Amino acid sequence: MAIEMGRKKSEVAAYTYKPMRNTSVNMDFKHELESLKEQLTFNGRIKDTNYDNIVIAGMGGSGMPGRIFHELYSEKPVYLVDDYHIPNFVGPRTLFISVSNSGNTEETISATKQAVEKGAHIVTISKGGELVKYGDEHIILPKKNLQPRSSIGYMLAPFLSSFGICTQKELLGVYKILDELDKDNEECKQYAVEIFKGEKIPVIQGSAPFKTVAYRWKTQFNENAKIFAYANSFPELNHNDTVALTHTYNKKAFFFFAFNPQYERIKKRLALTSELTNTELHVIDAKGKNTIEKLFYLMHYGDYISYHLSKLRGLDAKDISVSLEMKRRLA
Ligand code: F6R
Repeated sequence: MAIEMGRKKSEVAAYTYKPMRNTSVNMDFKHELESLKEQLTFNGRIKDTNYDNIVIAGMGGSGMPGRIFHELYSEKPVYLVDDYHIPNFVGPRTLFISVSNSGNTEETISATKQAVEKGAHIVTISKGGELVKYGDEHIILPKKNLQPRSSIGYMLAPFLSSFGICTQKELLGVYKILDELDKDNEECKQYAVEIFKGEKIPVIQGSAPFKTVAYRWKTQFNENAKIFAYANSFPELNHNDTVALTHTYNKKAFFFFAFNPQYERIKKRLALTSELTNTELHVIDAKGKNTIEKLFYLMHYGDYISYHLSKLRGLDAKDISVSLEMKRRLA
């Protein structure tokens, strides 16, 4: 359906996208990327995590910390909400964490209001906004001029520290890894050039414990470089995508990335996928001594590819005006 039911096309004002061909704006975005390493020192913490289950609400960039946490944490059931409604099981023994950078995202507010009614313990993570009207605890994010998706470190830090996912020492290791990538991201630029020249659609094949990072790459390609991208992960993709790789239309239109798998069985699957389907996979090796260092390295690597691609396309990586216009028209 192209337009709202009952409305004629002529009554619907189209949104005209005006690309901001201003590279100095893009410089700002580089600063946003470089700020990630500092963000991890943010000391916002959830006071009490002693609940039976954890439900995390958040959309887009603000949904990402919950997704990453979900993949790393397996002590208690975790359920993600990226919509208006919450699951029926939410109750007084639920720790309900609402993440919205602006604090004004309607889906997250709707879900949070329902969780309040169910008597869940609510923790909000935001810069303020309407969200702080609801809930029991509020973690207020530093009011830096960053895009929500660039604030991933601030939003993720409370999860990492409150649930003991990693130590302070491990986070210091992350600083070094990110700093190196900030200083030298030439390899990422080269990938961006290949994608740009071939007008390719990136396909990212993740694998545990970095399946979510593949999805993060997809969303960064979408929002920063303004192109479609697709993410899936091993071993699931061997049960569907792999079949498509044998007969898809326009296979040349895709640019395949895969993360070097952590597990032997998955390594074997990756090699076989490439061999059986005759597909060139560009394999990215995560640098780092532990899972958390590798996770941030991979995530930042993808940030830089999408950033360089936006520059090559003459677009402002920061700009998500069509998304903001959508929010304005829905209000
Ligand atoms: C923008 C971005 C978006 C927002 C999303 C939700 O940088 O990443 O995906 O995160 O539209 O808005 P907030 O974060 O304000 O709840």
